[in-house]
Amino acid sequence: MTAVGIDPLGRFLSDLGALYRTRRLYPGGNEQVQRAAQRTAEALARWGAPVRIAVLGDEVVVEDRAEAIAGHPLAGLLADLRASGCESVAIRPETTAEALARWLEAAARGGALEGPPGIEAGGLSFRGPSASPDEGPKGAPDQGALLPAVEEALADLASERKEGLQRAREIVSALAGHLAAETDLIQPIRDLKDHDDYTFTHALNVCALSGVLARALGARAELVDSIALGALCHDVGKYDVPREVLNFEGPLSPDDRQVMNGHPAHGARRLVDMGKEVHPLLPVIAYQHHMAADGSGYPRIPLPGGPHPASLIVAVADVFDALRTVRPYRGARTVAQACTVLLGDTAAGRLHRRHVSAFLGVFRVLGPGRAVAMSDGRRAAVLREGRPDALEPLVEAEDGQVVDLSLSAAPGIVEVLEAPP
Ligand SMILES: [Fe+2]
Ligand SMILES: [Fe+2]
Repeated sequence: MTAVGIDPLGRFLSDLGALYRTRRLYPGGNEQVQRAAQRTAEALARWGAPVRIAVLGDEVVVEDRAEAIAGHPLAGLLADLRASGCESVAIRPETTAEALARWLEAAARGGALEGPPGIEAGGLSFRGPSASPDEGPKGAPDQGALLPAVEEALADLASERKEGLQRAREIVSALAGHLAAETDLIQPIRDLKDHDDYTFTHALNVCALSGVLARALGARAELVDSIALGALCHDVGKYDVPREVLNFEGPLSPDDRQVMNGHPAHGARRLVDMGKEVHPLLPVIAYQHHMAADGSGYPRIPLPGGPHPASLIVAVADVFDALRTVRPYRGARTVAQACTVLLGDTAAGRLHRRHVSAFLGVFRVLGPGRAVAMSDGRRAAVLREGRPDALEPLVEAEDGQVVDLSLSAAPGIVEVLEAPP
């Protein structure tokens, strides 16, 4: 995985930020601008690989690392990019000083999408060369086969909110198109299907749920697709786990648990081995999806700043779908029970509250009439959905008191219940 934030990529980002600021102060032909552009182009050449920058909500993702936009060396440039409707850019290592300066000038005028040679702005188009039109979607899973599987899996949530299913459908449709272009990814996904059908179905569900969640969190279409694709591949490492271990009826022995817990590393290695054409988020998501926001999961590796937001988005969908499924060793949990587990993981610090809130919000799990248990021990019924935070609805407690859970002293929701109190 790529180390970001340190030399030489960190150097390039810092130089690009300085070039941006210099360009705002001086006209294009100015000597200081030219010198700053030259320095930036040299730093880029030293890095020697494309630099991929994407904006997700209030975070910027450079290669495999997310950081807050506030205080970032590129904060000003990112504001210009957003104003241009541009949320992702790939800068090739051979981009010249002149092209960099020209692009920043265009960005300041709202024209960031018209990237000069070497700069591809507007979409996360970091995929390998597309299949030629003659070849068609070689080996791509057929949309017709994917859609019914996902629709069935999401039927329970769909009854809560039709738009959720519609979005999932759009995401899976878009995904089938991406798989047609990324023929390299077909094989591990196919291997996984042959190896263990449950894991394949689970991957499809997590893909659709993660895509819906990413979109609810404000990611634009191309980043949603990348996260959904990462979610589809999150468990490809289970191909390296024997079927007997995957489907063992009962708690795993310590040895088997260790084998099972190796799947994130196996998956990341399989995706990394495919080379630079595979989007860098994919191995990151595969490696980190069980790490947990507080680092208490596995692999147990302390990461400054914690796992990537995309990994934690996928983790919400992963936990939810795993609980909703019947396994050889246990029955399926209900939507309410699975959401209660999400709330518990949030309270424990394993999942991000913002992600879980968006998940419950987009599927309207906490819509009017939903019964909940609160942290003060009372049960309550939701009167009005929480907006913008789904975890903070207006409720009527069992004693008749109406409580606005968005108020600072208000209790929290600790359990989603099946029936009204
Ligand atoms: Fe997993
Ligand atoms: Fe999973």
